[in-house]
Amino acid sequence: MMNKQVIIVEDAAHLAHKGAELFAGIANRSVTMNGRFSVALSGGSTPRPMNRLLATEPYASQIPWQDTHIFMVDERMLPFEDPQSNFGALKADLLAKVPAVEGQIHPMPVWLEPAAAAAAYIRQLEVFFGNSSLKAPVFDLILLGIGSDGHTASLFPEVMAGLPAAPWVLAVRGGSPAVWRLTLNVTVLNQARHVCFLASGPEKSNIVRELFAESTPLLPAQMIAPAAGSLTFILDRTAAARLPESNR
Ligand code: 6PG
Repeated sequence: MMNKQVIIVEDAAHLAHKGAELFAGIANRSVTMNGRFSVALSGGSTPRPMNRLLATEPYASQIPWQDTHIFMVDERMLPFEDPQSNFGALKADLLAKVPAVEGQIHPMPVWLEPAAAAAAYIRQLEVFFGNSSLKAPVFDLILLGIGSDGHTASLFPEVMAGLPAAPWVLAVRGGSPAVWRLTLNVTVLNQARHVCFLASGPEKSNIVRELFAESTPLLPAQMIAPAAGSLTFILDRTAAARLPESNR
C-alpha cells in the first residue's frame, strides 16, 4: 500500500536541505539493505540547489558514493555542454565534485537517434537491474519535478495519450526547450521504492493544488503512484500556498 507524505518547508533553500537529507537517508538505508543505492534524477531548475548541497558538507561525506548508481529520469537530446542539458547541469552541480565512480553514472545517450537512444538506455537498465523477468527496474529513489502544465519527467499532457505504456524508456518531442527528449516511462517511475517530487515557487501553486484534486484525464504527474513504495512531496510554502488543509 502506497505511503504518501507532504512536507512543506519555508523556502527554496530549506527545500534543498530537505531533499538532500532525504537523498542521504535513503542512500544509506539502501546500501545497508541491498549493498547499493540506485537513484534517477530529473532536470529542470528546482533540484539544482539540492544537487549543489549534496556536493558539500555535511552531505557529501554522508553519501556512500562508491555504492551509488546514478541514472537520469529524463534528458533533452542536446550535447551535454549545452546549458539546457540535464546531465550537463548535474555534472557541473554535483558529479564533478564528488567521488562518484564513472562506471556508476548513467547519462542518457543523446548522441544517438531518438528511438535508438531509448532502446540503448533500456539496455543499460537491463544490464543494471537484470532482465530475467519482465518486471520494470526498481529504483531506490526517483526524484521528480512538476511542470506548470502537470508534466513530470518528459511526460507531457499533450503527448501522453499516444504513448505506449510498456517500454521502460521513451523518446518524445515537446516541452521547453521543445526538442527530442528521452524519459523514463510511468511504469518505471511507479516501481520505485521511493518517489519524491520537489516543487518550489508561486508559479507552481496552481498545479500543485490541481494535482491533489480529482481530475480526468489524469495529468502525467498524477499518474505517479508507486505500487509498493512511498511517495513524498517536498513543497515550499509558496508552491503549497493553494493546497487545501486536508492535503497538508
Ligand atoms: C526536464 C525535467 C522536467 C522538470 C519540470 C520542472 O528535463 O524538463 O526533468 O520534468 O522536472 O519541468 O522543471 P523546473 O524544476 O525547472 O520547474
